[in-house]
Amino acid sequence: MEKRSWAEPYKIKMVELIKMTTKEERQAAIIEAGYNTFLLKSEDVYIDLLTDSGVGAMSDRQWAGIMMGDEAYAGSRNFYHLRDAVESHYSYRFTVPTHQGRGAENILSQLLIKEGDYLPGNMYFTTTRLHQELAGGTFVDIIIDEAHDPNSTHPFKGNVDFIKLDNLVNEVGADKIPYVCIATCVNMAGGQPISLASLRELRKWCDKHGILIVHDMTRVAENAYFIQQREEGYRSKTVKEIVSEICELTDAATMSSKKDAMVNIGGFLAMNDARLYEQACELVVVYEGLHTYGGMAGRDMEALAIGITESVQDDHMQARVGQIEYLWDRLESAGVPLVKPCGGHAVFLDARAMLPHLPQNQFPAQALAAALYVESGIRAMERGVVSAGRDKNTGQNRLPKLELVRLTIPRRVYTQAHMDVTAESVIRVMKHADEVKGLRFTYEPRMLRFFQGRFEECLAGTE
Ligand code: F0G
Repeated sequence: MEKRSWAEPYKIKMVELIKMTTKEERQAAIIEAGYNTFLLKSEDVYIDLLTDSGVGAMSDRQWAGIMMGDEAYAGSRNFYHLRDAVESHYSYRFTVPTHQGRGAENILSQLLIKEGDYLPGNMYFTTTRLHQELAGGTFVDIIIDEAHDPNSTHPFKGNVDFIKLDNLVNEVGADKIPYVCIATCVNMAGGQPISLASLRELRKWCDKHGILIVHDMTRVAENAYFIQQREEGYRSKTVKEIVSEICELTDAATMSSKKDAMVNIGGFLAMNDARLYEQACELVVVYEGLHTYGGMAGRDMEALAIGITESVQDDHMQARVGQIEYLWDRLESAGVPLVKPCGGHAVFLDARAMLPHLPQNQFPAQALAAALYVESGIRAMERGVVSAGRDKNTGQNRLPKLELVRLTIPRRVYTQAHMDVTAESVIRVMKHADEVKGLRFTYEPRMLRFFQGRFEECLAGTE
C-alpha cells in the first residue's frame, strides 16, 4: 500500500527566532564548552536536538490553562484537575506532584528500596539508577539482548528477558527485589517499546514472586503508538486505550511530564496503594513541597493536566513519530549507521560504526556530537560511555555496547525542513568522519558526569 504523508495536526500561531552561527564561532564555542554539548549556550545553537525534555511547544489550550493557575499553597484547583487527568488517562488512583521525574524517583527509591536490594529494569536510565544506588540498591539489567544490538530489528527491544529475571531471583531471593522497574519506550535502548505481551507476562511473574512493578512512564504514549502499529491485535485500539492498558498492568509510576505531556516543567509519582501514597505524601513535603503541589506552580499543573489529554490523541502521535521516522528514513537511505528500528523520541547514530578509528575510551559518541555541532550548529547528546559512568564497586568506566549520539526531536517544535537540514548535516559529518579526533576528560564530575564533564581533544597517537 502506498504510504501516505503525515502532516502536523496543528498550525503555527507564534514563532521563536533562531540564528545561524559561523563555523569559526562554533569552533570557539565547543572548545569553551569543553566539547560537551550540555555546556553550550542555547543562543549558539541552530537546531536544538539535545533532548525532548521540557522543550515541547505547548498548545494554545495549555497556555490558556497557565492563566487559570490557582496558586493557593494548599488544595489548588489545578492539583485536582491533574489528579483527575492522571486517573482517567493513566488509571492510577493517587498522584503526588513533583518538580520533575527525578523528584519522583528520589521519593519512590527512598520508600521502597533497602540497603542491599536489587532493582531489575529494562535497561538503566541515568537518574533512575543513581537514585536506586543512593538508596542502597543495585540495578540489574533484564532487557532482552537484542536491545544492546543497534542492528537488531526486533520490534519490541524494550521487552523483558525472563531468564535473566529468573536467574536474579534464584541468586538473591525475591525478598531482595522490591520491584521491577519498567520503562515504556526505553530511552537508552534508542526509544524502543515494550510489548503488551511482555508486560502481561511480567505481571504474572511479579504476582508469583510478590514483587511490584514500577512504571517509568515518561514516554508511555509513544510506546502505546508502537503497540498499535506493531503488535498483533492492536490496530483498531486507540493510543489512549493502549496507554490505559499498559498502566493498569503496573502498580506505581514515576513520570517526567516534560516529555510525553509537553510541559516545560513537572512530573509526578502515581500509585494505587493507599499506604504507599500516605508515605509518599510524608516524604514529598521534605524534598518538593506540599502534596498538592509538590514543587509545581498551580498554573503548571493545569498545563500538565491539559497536556496529558493532548498527548494520547492518535493524530498527535502519528505526526510525532511520523516526523522521527521521516528523519530516520532519510539517514538510513544515505547509509548512516543508526539504531534499528526507528525509536519514539529520537534518531540514534551508532558512533562506533561511524567512527571506527576511535576506541571507546576516547568517547566516540561525545566526539561525534561535538563534530556535528561544529559542522552545522545542530546540538545532539552523547548516550554512551560518558553517560554510563563508572561502576559503583570497581570505579572503572562502564563500557556499554551502545555508543550513541541522540538526535532528540522536541514535540511540535521543528518542521520537516529542519529535519532535512539535520539529515544533510549528519551525512556531511559522516563523509569526513575520519577527521574526528578522540577526547579525554579535563574535568570529570563524580555523579551524572555527562551533564557537566569537560573534555579536550586527544593528541594524535595518544589514548
Ligand atoms: N526517566 C526517563 C526515561 C527519562 O528519559 C528521564 C529524563 C527521566 C526519567 C528523568 O526525568 O529529567 O524530568 O528529572 N530524561 C531527559 C532526557 C533528561 O534528555 O532524556 P527528569
